Amino acid sequence: MDNYQEKESAPRIIRLDEIGSTNGYLREHLRKEKLPEGSVVMAGFQTAGRGQQGNTWEAGPGKNLLFSVVLYPDCIPANRQFLISQIAALSVKEALERRTDGITVKWPNDIYWKDKKICGMLVENDLMGATLFRSIIGIGINVNQTAFTPHAPNAVSLVQITGKTHDREEILDAFLSRFYGYYLRLLQEKEEEIREAYRQVLYRKNGYHPYSDADGPFTARIRDIEPTGHLLLQLKSGEVRRYAFKEVIYR
Ligand code: BTN
Repeated sequence: MDNYQEKESAPRIIRLDEIGSTNGYLREHLRKEKLPEGSVVMAGFQTAGRGQQGNTWEAGPGKNLLFSVVLYPDCIPANRQFLISQIAALSVKEALERRTDGITVKWPNDIYWKDKKICGMLVENDLMGATLFRSIIGIGINVNQTAFTPHAPNAVSLVQITGKTHDREEILDAFLSRFYGYYLRLLQEKEEEIREAYRQVLYRKNGYHPYSDADGPFTARIRDIEPTGHLLLQLKSGEVRRYAFKEVIYR
């Protein structure tokens, strides 16, 4: 973030042992004090970790990397807010792939190792008029947790994959350096570069796979991700179906 560190102060990192949710803490903190762009809240444990769609997010004490980052992307139109999810997903993928093969991004912003979930994201965007005003990007990476509750049957961690523990701060550093770099590219309007990088790392990028929607199961291939974040699936008949998040299930 070299350029904009000159006009703003450097991002802060707030480390907490235990908190309800890093997304919630960051939002509350920002009501009292504006933090520099790119600032982070990380916690060793969350008592009320939040997942997508009102789900909870569970992680053992001191085991995983749980953090939230704030951006003020006021030049990004509301209908392009998916770019924030894309740069966050790319940055996690690149931070993890130094430690293991097999990392992909499952649309819209889960990070997978093979067919299992190693990281989830909760991106909360606040709009002002037609542009983004603030984005809180909450990320939970399964790092050193050796077992998961039956609520998360598809979860996997780095320690399970590699057989050794990993330094959470090193992973955070790797993430942040990439994330700030991608954000600068976004501010420099390199949107197509970001979209193409995202396409290249998609889970199920190639070939036909089973899905289901409100009308039932079907087989399709990923045709594209629209700038709005919609997923386009193409059936063997040539028919193309368009989905918002949660309108389609990967079977
Ligand atoms: C998902 O359901 O996949 C999203 C999970 C997001 C979890 C992270 S952990 C850090 C941040 N704080 C939260 O309360 N949630 C996110």
